[in-house]
Amino acid sequence: MDLDDEKIDQGKRNFLKAMAVMSIAAAAGGAVKGVVSNVVTPSEGLTEFPEMTLVDSSGSPIKASNWPVNSPNIWLYYYPLTDDPNFLINLGDEKNAPLSISSSDVTIPANGSTFKSPGGVGPSNSIVSASAICQHLGCVPPIIHYYSPGNSIPGHPGLLQSYKPTSGLVHCNCHGSTYDPAKGFSVVTGPTAKPLPNVILKYNSAEDTLSVNSMTGPTIYGKVGDLSGGTPFPAGTTKTQMVNLGAV
Ligand code: FES
Repeated sequence: MDLDDEKIDQGKRNFLKAMAVMSIAAAAGGAVKGVVSNVVTPSEGLTEFPEMTLVDSSGSPIKASNWPVNSPNIWLYYYPLTDDPNFLINLGDEKNAPLSISSSDVTIPANGSTFKSPGGVGPSNSIVSASAICQHLGCVPPIIHYYSPGNSIPGHPGLLQSYKPTSGLVHCNCHGSTYDPAKGFSVVTGPTAKPLPNVILKYNSAEDTLSVNSMTGPTIYGKVGDLSGGTPFPAGTTKTQMVNLGAV
């Protein structure tokens, strides 16, 4: 190999090294984007919660009576701003029979205050919804998701026996926080000290459709207010689309 060949080879090696570092940086950026995107809070926002119908990918309202019980897929929609993902879960028992979910008083361990959860809606009063951003440090799906009844919770081997949840549980694998969706997404295990913010759903029984019109509980993680710190939907938007993240 002469000197020129050696220079070309060294150049190739440097180029490949640079590409490798850029790939890792890009991958790392992608991995944390979902976690940190809600932390920086721009000042613009809405003055009141919008009302939006939950629709499928073709823009048609989803039918509540068809919504899968204990779905193995992670279903999300964005509300109240375009950056805020929320779970929509039809809660059921171990045989996937829908469970009627009552309103309950939910404690926020961080400050000892309480709020009233909205309870379930739909033909069986079994559909609930909450922010999908973990209240501990902001991890997002799929690392936080719903575990249907009977599925053990990672890192908490005896939890199902000691806690005996009514339905499944939402668990975040970042650091082990667990929430009970049948009790207003209350805190079951830390390190989180706050429940997931509940979304208030409305059920139109004549049309069998669902809409969202406000939230209750703690503020969405990383924000100073539910209606600030992100990008509002365009004015006049009346629909928000369900997104399937796939099976877990
Ligand atoms: S971010 Fe969910 S447990 Fe820490």
